[in-house]
Amino acid sequence: MNLVEHGILEDYLVRTRWFGGKSRPFHVPAVRRIADLSAADGRVQAIVFLVTVEYDDPEGGSETYQVPLASYDEPQEAIAHAAVGSVEDEGRVRHLYDAVHDRYAMALWLEGLVAAEASETDERGGLRFRRVPGTEPLDPEWRSSPLSGEQSNSSVRFDDTAIMKVFRKVTPGLNPDIEIHRELTRAGAEHIAVLYGWVEADVDGEVVQLAMVQEFLRTATDGFDLATGSVRTLMADPEQSIEGSGGDFAGEAARLGTAVAEVHATLRERFPVDRRGPRAAASLSRAMVDRLEHALGVVPELAPYADRLRAAYAAVAQLPGLDVQRVHGDLHLGQTLRTAHGWRIVDFEGEPGRPFAERALPDSPWRDVAGMLRSFDYVPGVVEMAQASSTEPVEDAEDELRVQRGREWAERSRGRFLDAYVAAMRGADDEDDDPVDDRPVHLTEGERTLLNAYVADKAVYEAVYEKRNRPGWVSIPLQALGEI
Ligand SMILES: Nc1ncnc2c1ncn2[C@@H]1O[C@H](COP(=O)(O)OP(=O)(O)O)[C@@H](O)[C@H]1O
Ligand SMILES: [Mg+2]
Repeated sequence: MNLVEHGILEDYLVRTRWFGGKSRPFHVPAVRRIADLSAADGRVQAIVFLVTVEYDDPEGGSETYQVPLASYDEPQEAIAHAAVGSVEDEGRVRHLYDAVHDRYAMALWLEGLVAAEASETDERGGLRFRRVPGTEPLDPEWRSSPLSGEQSNSSVRFDDTAIMKVFRKVTPGLNPDIEIHRELTRAGAEHIAVLYGWVEADVDGEVVQLAMVQEFLRTATDGFDLATGSVRTLMADPEQSIEGSGGDFAGEAARLGTAVAEVHATLRERFPVDRRGPRAAASLSRAMVDRLEHALGVVPELAPYADRLRAAYAAVAQLPGLDVQRVHGDLHLGQTLRTAHGWRIVDFEGEPGRPFAERALPDSPWRDVAGMLRSFDYVPGVVEMAQASSTEPVEDAEDELRVQRGREWAERSRGRFLDAYVAAMRGADDEDDDPVDDRPVHLTEGERTLLNAYVADKAVYEAVYEKRNRPGWVSIPLQALGEI
């Protein structure tokens, strides 16, 4: 089945949500068939392809995407929306569909995982299925349904019990999402979704991790959605004080701070930690300054803040050192889920765009904290933008009050999150000591310097991103930079 010759993959890639190169000229020089699975009843064949994409613009470069297809003798009405195309193969016409959308194809992945239960590993058709011992048994009868809201990967639910994330852009090596979830699961960490297993393949002597399966959090609400809901409630009646409005997020923010601190503490236990010297602090400071100088060329509106930012980064260069550990790497409210049993942190893949090996390096946990603080700040901004574009113009006075309430909400949520984070962090690290009631829960001067710089650095990054993608939103990070 020569898919390159048929050219159908180029057409398919640009129709998907997860293909990152849609806006760039590209071609597909190679497609590798790495696995074949067949249903016992012969109903469907599943074929996993790795598709190489080469970019034809000056930036160039190439990427590899995983495209699992379900192959049928006859067209399948029920999954017509996931059709990839039809090709002739050995004299027969094959009708191809994105396997993630096909229940019968996904059942083959589930079967592999079930087969791996007894001995932790099962190899079939070119795929290796792995199970994490001691976790829930999986049922081959569960029915799959793809999750909507797909972004850079595709997720499939098995009944309402397990969720499988199919990685789309793949590279050889340990995927941090699997690596971290596996350790946190073994450690019995509370604030994550348990990892049940994963799927990988050997390609040219290297392991390529293709999918992971976790506990499905049935009662989960996305943290960002929950937070925007809270702000909308607040803004519906801006005369009300936050505390009395039902739109208060302080308690949730504090519980989330505790959850993040606990996850960080477990990561410190299970992965290497390091104390880096003054040169590491100086080099971090330089990287932040470089990013600022580059950003100033893209976003001239940053100019009034530049001196203050340089001073904030210069303070980092004076720090005696940096404590580093394994971190989340891409933490924001959209990577958190609020369940009936408290907060869960998901998606430990780290900063997209960086190689796996780099993402696995220890980093400062304050970078994660800064990501969360910036995320709280975005919530009122996003709600205001949505209201500004959807409602009739409102009276100035009420509008102003709304903006003010939004700022109060963000400040309060940030404060509660940070207080709870610091309190839990100190508590976790002092576990062996005698409890001391007057233990300081405020940040040390060095921690504050570092956090402040990470927040600024993130806001500068956002300013560049917004300028390029949503120019009307640049005011959100700029507003924050005014407060540095
Ligand atoms: N264990 C889970 N249970 C329920 N929903 C989940 C779970 N993990 C992820 N999700 C949902 O899927 C979305 C995307 O998951 P995520 O791991 O962040 O994938 P991506 O790499 O595509 O961003 C989350 O925002 C959440 O809504
Ligand atoms: Mg995510």
